[in-house]
Amino acid sequence: MAPAISTLVVAPIDATLGARVTGVDLANLDDAAFAAIYKEFLEYGVLIFPDQNLSDEAQAQFALRFGEIERVSPQQKGATMQVSNQKPDGTVLGEDEFRYKVLRGNEGWHTDSTYMPLASKVAMLAALVVPPEGGETAFADMRAGWAALDESTRQQLEGLSAYHSYYYSQAQAGFKLKTDNAYGLHDKGAPLRPIVKVHPETGRKSLYTGRHAYGIPGLSAEASEQLLQDSLTHACQAPRTYTHQWAVGDVVVWDNRCVMHRACPYDTRQARVLRGSRIAGDHASELAPTFADEHAEAFEPSESNVTKVMTEMDAKA
Ligand code: OGA
Ligand code: MN
Repeated sequence: MAPAISTLVVAPIDATLGARVTGVDLANLDDAAFAAIYKEFLEYGVLIFPDQNLSDEAQAQFALRFGEIERVSPQQKGATMQVSNQKPDGTVLGEDEFRYKVLRGNEGWHTDSTYMPLASKVAMLAALVVPPEGGETAFADMRAGWAALDESTRQQLEGLSAYHSYYYSQAQAGFKLKTDNAYGLHDKGAPLRPIVKVHPETGRKSLYTGRHAYGIPGLSAEASEQLLQDSLTHACQAPRTYTHQWAVGDVVVWDNRCVMHRACPYDTRQARVLRGSRIAGDHASELAPTFADEHAEAFEPSESNVTKVMTEMDAKA
């Protein structure tokens, strides 16, 4: 058999980011094939692998090649988790359920885990069940987004930082939530992150804000919200966006350090089941200092994303 690398076909999407990659079986990758994929990943920011139909274990092995796994719920044991509105009994989540609010919140542009001390660097999703209409995932190139801002906005933003909070973003989405120390709704404080991110591997600058970002120090809450909102809206426009329409078996991987994403609406009475893996950021580039979050009920600063509920559940197991 010829090495997988010789058949890799990379077809750029008609946008500033994204490529479709075929001619490779992600369940049977050797180091050389992964190195070739990783090079394209840094270039395109989003890679789409149609028709992979990975098993849970194969996805785990692929995800682990990108780095350490970030555990996003106390229930998560391995390298994968469900991004799904379907419950174990086959019914779909109701509007009052916490997970429903998580999924609806995902419909705002964001980069993953910026509200945790250590933000994520890479994430992937695989499609298991797709609704008949809608439910796409959209991606926005924040390198091109940064470049597309006018000179005066860039000058205004350069050197500024913003706090990131899941309490804040969920409240903006209409869901006021209390501290539970499971994940996201923690007492570790709100990370303060520079608005312009320099990619640790490519050195390219991007706009690094999204729906979790608020409260730029030195600006009023209103001025801050306006600036964050306006710059994000301007950045997330064609030709800097790609909306992926899922087919069962697709795998999509993106670079959280320079790409934002959001889920698109669908009829939530229909099942939508994706299998995700989130890869932890690197301490040198994705760890941020945290400060008391006025939305949280307590403040116990920490550099670890591991939550109290995770530790408690692990102790019981
Ligand atoms: C996520 C996410 C988007 C989607 O899992 O982090 O934002 O389309 N998902 O489900
Ligand atoms: Mn996400």
